Amino acid sequence: MSFSSDSPSNEKIDWWQMLLDPDFIKSPHQKLELIRKSGAVQLDPETGIYFILGHREFRQLALAPEMGRDTQLWTNGWSSPESRQRDPLSYDLFSEFQRQMVNSNPPDHRRMRDVYEHAFSPKRMLEFFPMIEAETKKLVNSLPEGAPFDFMTNFANKLPLIISRNLFGISADMDHQLAKWNSALIKIGDILMSPDQKSEALLALREYKDYLRKYLSSKTKDSKEIFISLTLEALSAGTMDEEEVINNCLGLISGNETTVSLLGNGLLSLLQHPQELERLRKDSGLMRSGIEEMLRHEPSINFILRVAIKDFQCSGVLIPQGSMAIGLVSAINRDPERFNDPEKFDISRQPNAQSIFGGGPHVCIGAALARMEAQSCFSALLEEFPRIEIAGEPLWWVDRTNQRGLQSLPIMISRHAA
Ligand code: HEM
Repeated sequence: MSFSSDSPSNEKIDWWQMLLDPDFIKSPHQKLELIRKSGAVQLDPETGIYFILGHREFRQLALAPEMGRDTQLWTNGWSSPESRQRDPLSYDLFSEFQRQMVNSNPPDHRRMRDVYEHAFSPKRMLEFFPMIEAETKKLVNSLPEGAPFDFMTNFANKLPLIISRNLFGISADMDHQLAKWNSALIKIGDILMSPDQKSEALLALREYKDYLRKYLSSKTKDSKEIFISLTLEALSAGTMDEEEVINNCLGLISGNETTVSLLGNGLLSLLQHPQELERLRKDSGLMRSGIEEMLRHEPSINFILRVAIKDFQCSGVLIPQGSMAIGLVSAINRDPERFNDPEKFDISRQPNAQSIFGGGPHVCIGAALARMEAQSCFSALLEEFPRIEIAGEPLWWVDRTNQRGLQSLPIMISRHAA
């Protein structure tokens, strides 16, 4: 299949080929910059997908009541009724995952989100900071000093998973299994999945859901874990049914994969910009703005999707009912109309209206948690190790189109300054 539309030089863009090209995945910025010049909203005539590359245009899209996240409304899309016969495997996979807040439109979306929203507020999340710091410290203390090691395997892949399962009171024995399920499920957001990957993801999804069903039935409403008690209260009050309860818990627990990439991409940005790393070491007051800049500069997600509930005009371009629109975050986060000197990595950037957590009613519910994990991770690493250096070629995942992250990041650390 080939995607095509006009580029500034009137060359045809093969969207499909571009989005799957390993070189583009590793470094999409220049190409996206060039494409944005020919339009911040672009239709691929072949697939009927609208790509959003501008910051202002993405805000309009995210806030518009005409645009939702229910992919069942995407005409001929993954989980539309028409796809049931055409592609039953995709239909089964996406239907199995469908009924949760991230895939719902009003009024169901609000009904489910209200169950958890206050517990995820930045203020309530602070209650978990001591637990996050303690887990971070344990991992930091386990890192090998004076010899190269992979930061992803030894640290970034571990911390967010540990924090998520702690929030739900799941024991450490499950770490290996949860990681295995996550790595099959991570493909679900991709535009292209092979039939084998779909089957693998469907199997993982069913196993994960069975596990959660059993796990939740072993718990009670007065559980000390707030997320369990909120979930079971919502179930007994009829606010959510069993399928919604299981899918939402699964979404909340497995939401940690994007935080893995925030830690990896963020550390890489710091190591590639040693002056900024030094500024952060000297002034920990820059941590908050530094993390926003990491999120802007190398975002850990490529696509944020919407499906038109009704016709919607986005910056003069009509997005007809039933169409898919995809915000390309790497382009949106470097839109020169919104960000001065967008290529520059500046840990004190203010203001920084980066869009990695989306916007409008679906804005990421776990944003405060992800930011706290990043704060805990980078504060501990910088305090503990006066020397942190790249020790080999970082390897990007090139078989993922939706998530943007590192497979490995070889580094070397030392408690002694050079
Ligand atoms: C750096 C880490 C993270 C990134 C980049 C990220 C990104 C996103 C994005 C782009 C969305 C969709 C927003 C939209 O459509 O406008 C989203 C939604 C969501 N995220 Fe995150 N996320 C992260 C961490 C987390 C964590 C740790 C959790 C779990 C607590 C989580 C749970 C969710 C949920 C449940 C939704 C659906 C919200 C809704 O539809 O109302 N995310 N996230």
